[in-house]
Amino acid sequence: MALSSSHLLGLEGVPASDIIKILDTAESLKPILDRPIPKVPTLRGITVVNLFFEPSTRTRISFELAEKRLSADTVNFSSTTSSVKKGETLRDTVRNIEAMKINMIVVRHSAAGVPYFLTRCTDATVINAGDGQHEHPTQALLDMMTLREKWGTLAGKKIAIIGDVKHSRVAGSNIRGLVTMGAKVVVCGPKTLMPPGIEELGATVSYNIDEAIAWADALNVLRIQLERQEAGLFPSIREYHAEFGITRDRLERAKKEIIIMHPGPINRGIELDSDVADSDASIILNQVTNGVAVRMAVLVLLSGMDSASD
Ligand code: CP
Repeated sequence: MALSSSHLLGLEGVPASDIIKILDTAESLKPILDRPIPKVPTLRGITVVNLFFEPSTRTRISFELAEKRLSADTVNFSSTTSSVKKGETLRDTVRNIEAMKINMIVVRHSAAGVPYFLTRCTDATVINAGDGQHEHPTQALLDMMTLREKWGTLAGKKIAIIGDVKHSRVAGSNIRGLVTMGAKVVVCGPKTLMPPGIEELGATVSYNIDEAIAWADALNVLRIQLERQEAGLFPSIREYHAEFGITRDRLERAKKEIIIMHPGPINRGIELDSDVADSDASIILNQVTNGVAVRMAVLVLLSGMDSASD
């Protein structure tokens, strides 16, 4: 087995050796994306079902492209047009799909733990594409790949994760992965958006955005989930922006170079101003490109097939 687990359910407990293998494989696969014909036969004969029960732009398209670049057969499932609408259980849905002879399932679901649950219902390899507020491992892997490309290493580097840490599966997976790789992580946001016990994952908490910016080499700015304001977890969008929004003024006050990341989709003018998102400091679109390479790497390594051949 190329990795220490036969599924990718999260980065909790994933050893540094696995993360390095995924990032190294992604780096070696990335040039395929720039070829005139960006396709290799590595996953020929492998069938992957993309099971998305929640909206997605980047992750869904990125997985589908990764599968196509590797010559896998891909099928896209959308809960809104499936028999889930007629009351079919998740277990029945997955067992019926498996009966059609498939090899791998990529799943996004609003409930934490669904990818793990699927491993109990099917013999297919399961990859978590985001489960509730729990984990989004391929997002953290593509974030780490993009930072490693910039710096050559993650060890000792300082990353501040800004915003709604409490409800963020991106934050959870990033903290786990970065700490495993020897990086230092600060999480910064309103107290109401900070989960209790986050320090146990190895992150330090700050409630002062200017201090977090002064400390960090990179900011990973999380999307503010607008429904949190309706729930009263912060007073107003304007106040959030004033207290924690990443603006050019705020960055200029820090008087240093800092890398700007965002997993997308961005709420421009709320957690991140447009002139920062589109500045030279931003590596947001590099993250998106690397998402395809990382997902190719995860698919190859979990498929048991050899790494990409010409
Ligand atoms: N980063 C991310 O998960 O984006 P999508 O929701 O568009 O997939």
